[in-house]
Amino acid sequence: TARIDLAIIPGDGIGPEVTAEAVKVLSAVLADEVELALTEYSLGAQHWLATGETLPEETLTRLRAHDAILFGAVGAAPGDKRIPSGLIERELLLKLRFELDHYVNLRPSKLYPGVGSPLAAPGAVDFIVVREGTEGPYAGNGGTLRGGTNHEIATEVSLNTAHGVERVVRDAFRRASERPRRKLTLVHKHNVLVFAGHLWKRTVEAVALEFPEVTHDYLHVDAATIFLVTDPSRFDVIVTDNLFGDILTDLAAAISGGIGLAASGNLNMDRTAPSMFEPVHGSAPDIAGQQKADPTAAILSAALLLRHLGQNAAAERIERAVEADIAGRTGAPRTTSAVGDAIAAAVS
Ligand code: NAD
Ligand code: IPM
Ligand code: MN
Repeated sequence: TARIDLAIIPGDGIGPEVTAEAVKVLSAVLADEVELALTEYSLGAQHWLATGETLPEETLTRLRAHDAILFGAVGAAPGDKRIPSGLIERELLLKLRFELDHYVNLRPSKLYPGVGSPLAAPGAVDFIVVREGTEGPYAGNGGTLRGGTNHEIATEVSLNTAHGVERVVRDAFRRASERPRRKLTLVHKHNVLVFAGHLWKRTVEAVALEFPEVTHDYLHVDAATIFLVTDPSRFDVIVTDNLFGDILTDLAAAISGGIGLAASGNLNMDRTAPSMFEPVHGSAPDIAGQQKADPTAAILSAALLLRHLGQNAAAERIERAVEADIAGRTGAPRTTSAVGDAIAAAVS
């Protein structure tokens, strides 16, 4: 039988709660057909408080050996003064994305039948955001001069390489070419960010020649937020910068059933390292430990994981089960584990 060697990083807050449900569903859907080997890694804000470790080199080496990583969420509560803001995000989560070369941050948005949207007339929402995952303003290319004085200068320099832009743009075109509508929208801000913006725009024009069947257009990011609210059905594949993609995908989640449904994959499409799958949401300290979190985003992330590993039939079973579960939701609250139990039962 086939075997999947999975690393699990539950993390902080609701991370462990939703990850447990995703594992439950994975075990149920794979059953006897695929052997599921699980290795759990204790990492995150709580782990840092206990040990002072963010991501030890040796742990990173061990993580590299797995087929894939299932990640919950990390991060402290906003008011928690014991943990410097951004420490865990940058030294653990972003470090994993950068070290494992997760250059495609894939974030699908689909408004399932029966799901409420805050939009009065959302139409058919079914698009994917291909967010660049290893560059942009996230590169950590910044600093501060004369810190603490009123002459302080703080910079965050956005890093954009031809190689980095081209590989994610080509991936987005390929995905567009495999979707019925075959449409790609570049979102950037080249009216202000002229150097990076023009690199992105030129790259899209060049790669478009390889995909004559795909139509493409362009939106400035501010205008893209308008259309995500007024006419989201116009989007099919959005390709964008790391930071714009972060912001747009929380908005995309909000219009298509909420952050509790939004899944993501951090993909290394060259398969030189394991890809990592996680809900778009964070550790949600406001509801942690109360079995209130919706595990659907984590469960759909597990489906993306299976798809990446070529287990398409199992992935589809999870997606169908989630769709049916969502359609049957009445609004009455269910615990995190009750949702996981229902979806696990439906895929077994
Ligand atoms: P968040 O996504 O954790 O929470 C935003 C809001 O959405 C909260 O009201 C929360 O209760 C709600 N929410 C989130 N997930 C939910 C779910 N599954 N079911 C129901 N409601 C849900 O964002 P935040 O509050 O900005 O960040 C909290 C912490 O998480 C911060 O430390 C932040 O840095 C971190 N964070 C981590 C990740 C990650 O690990 N990938 C992503 C985003 C934020
Ligand atoms: C996300 C998160 C992360 C990001 C943070 C926690 C570093 O918001 O995965 O969307 O900005 O990428
Ligand atoms: Mn985000």
